[in-house]
Amino acid sequence: MNPFQWVRAEILRSAWRRGLYTPPDRRVLEGDILPELARDPTVTRLLFVGVQWYTRHYPDQFGGKTFATIDPDPEVARLGGNPHAVGRVQDIEEHFPGLVFDAIVMTGVIGYGLNDRDEVDRALGACAKALRPGGWLVLGVDELRPMHVDPSASPASRQFEPRPFGASASARLDVAIPFKERWHTFLFWQKKARS
Ligand SMILES: C[S@@+](CC[C@H](N)C(=O)[O-])C[C@H]1O[C@@H](n2cnc3c(N)ncnc32)[C@H](O)[C@@H]1O
Repeated sequence: MNPFQWVRAEILRSAWRRGLYTPPDRRVLEGDILPELARDPTVTRLLFVGVQWYTRHYPDQFGGKTFATIDPDPEVARLGGNPHAVGRVQDIEEHFPGLVFDAIVMTGVIGYGLNDRDEVDRALGACAKALRPGGWLVLGVDELRPMHVDPSASPASRQFEPRPFGASASARLDVAIPFKERWHTFLFWQKKARS
């Protein structure tokens, strides 16, 4: 990233914090992916992994549905959905015993705390266990991030199949972003009926 791009990225981050700008990948998540899941009558229980100031309004569009959240940082618990668990995605079962989800959205977590191949595999295994057959796992990753781990290389990924999602009719969506990661990739996977 050259100095001009770095300054531009910092200005855009600051504008985002002040509500004056929304990054392109957020626009896709907030304007396309979450509304598509909220509209889907087969999705009544969703788990959103990883909570921040900019995700606090996400439960709003899921009125009448369960929008659960999980994050190990107790500081962000007040920004979560209902129910919210202070914990790791690898331990979903322990935090939401008996809850079967129709969709799990995990954006910006791989490479942002979930950085180890074995832990990514555990996380994907826990998601597969918590989802019903046919349930959606929507992953959002920054492939150029040094800590990125390719989820498709994980043995637990075999319990899912990539499936076209929403209007993009594609199982993979690359969105250019004005930050050093350069693009954000959404992967749309469905839990196989039998794995
Ligand atoms: C960059 S933020 C991403 C927030 C949000 N998911 C998004 O759409 O961008 C990363 C968040 O993931 C959380 N996180 C890191 N490791 C995690 C894990 N193993 N399980 C659940 N959340 C985790 C961090 O605490 C942090 O709040």
